[in-house]
Amino acid sequence: MSLKDVTIVITGGARGIGAATAAMAAARGANVVISDVIDEVGEATVAKIIAAGGRAIYAHCDVSSQSDVTALMETAAKHFGGIDVLHNNAGIHETMISKDFTFESMSVETFDRVMNVNVRGVFMCTKAALPYLKKSKKSPSVINAGSTASWVGYPFGLAYGTSKGAIALLTKNLAVALAPFGIRANCYCPASVDTDMVKDVTATLMAAAPADADTDSGGSPIDTHLVHRIGEPDDVAELVCFLASSQSSFVNGVNWLIDGGVLAWRDSVQSLGM
Ligand SMILES: NC(=O)c1ccc[n+]([C@@H]2O[C@H](COP(=O)([O-])OP(=O)(O)OC[C@H]3O[C@@H](n4cnc5c(N)ncnc54)[C@H](O)[C@@H]3O)[C@@H](O)[C@H]2O)c1
Repeated sequence: MSLKDVTIVITGGARGIGAATAAMAAARGANVVISDVIDEVGEATVAKIIAAGGRAIYAHCDVSSQSDVTALMETAAKHFGGIDVLHNNAGIHETMISKDFTFESMSVETFDRVMNVNVRGVFMCTKAALPYLKKSKKSPSVINAGSTASWVGYPFGLAYGTSKGAIALLTKNLAVALAPFGIRANCYCPASVDTDMVKDVTATLMAAAPADADTDSGGSPIDTHLVHRIGEPDDVAELVCFLASSQSSFVNGVNWLIDGGVLAWRDSVQSLGM
């Protein structure tokens, strides 16, 4: 699957799923723009791609900042002559920013921060990229990070799940809004993927759980995945690269589960301590 000379902007691309996508896309011929708030990690990810013979640049961008977002798209388009694909990948979970992450204890500020990064950031990045995507002749598209939490509730992660549910419908609405310009919008919905986010979230939930709780269930354990493993970042990168390519030109407005079968069946209410 070729992404030859396709320019892809990846938010939150310094590590995890974003970094895996960046490396895979570059290996398939793409021009990659990695943006993030952890600049040193992002620069190192770019250096690895260049060392492997790929084309990539790094640009700082907090997706909750309008000025950062505008500057990112300008930098990308200036450097590579346009933007063909926007990968809205940056995301946070409330357990990463606050110890008060139950519905009862969560502050409005925590809820707002999750929504600002996970939803408002996607809205702003897509608007800022639109003038460039409109000019693309390379099957332009927007690819959003959803989750199995876009589909169902989890014992913890109310703000995260709300934000990912919003992404599912934002994706469909973007598919409609961008169709007149020949731009597609799709969303990938992973279960647990082995990244720093999942390690952070799982560690926090385990630490917070009562001693007799089924702690596995808060962190999407391996045994809910019918394939007997959690995902690797490359599993998701394969799907994102497909969605970014012209080979997926008939795929539009989709929330694509990539979950090892987690949502093909039900977990037990015992996981809720009931
Ligand atoms: N890992 C999983 O199991 C999983 C499952 C479902 C969905 N997702 C989604 O996939 C995406 C990538 O997840 P990941 O597991 O690679 O996470 P990660 O935490 O490893 O990587 C996310 C990146 O986003 C960056 N980021 C955070 N806030 C930002 C901001 N305000 N502006 C710009 N960048 C910011 C982080 O610095 C980090 O580099 C996220 O949207 C996440 O919600 C992940």
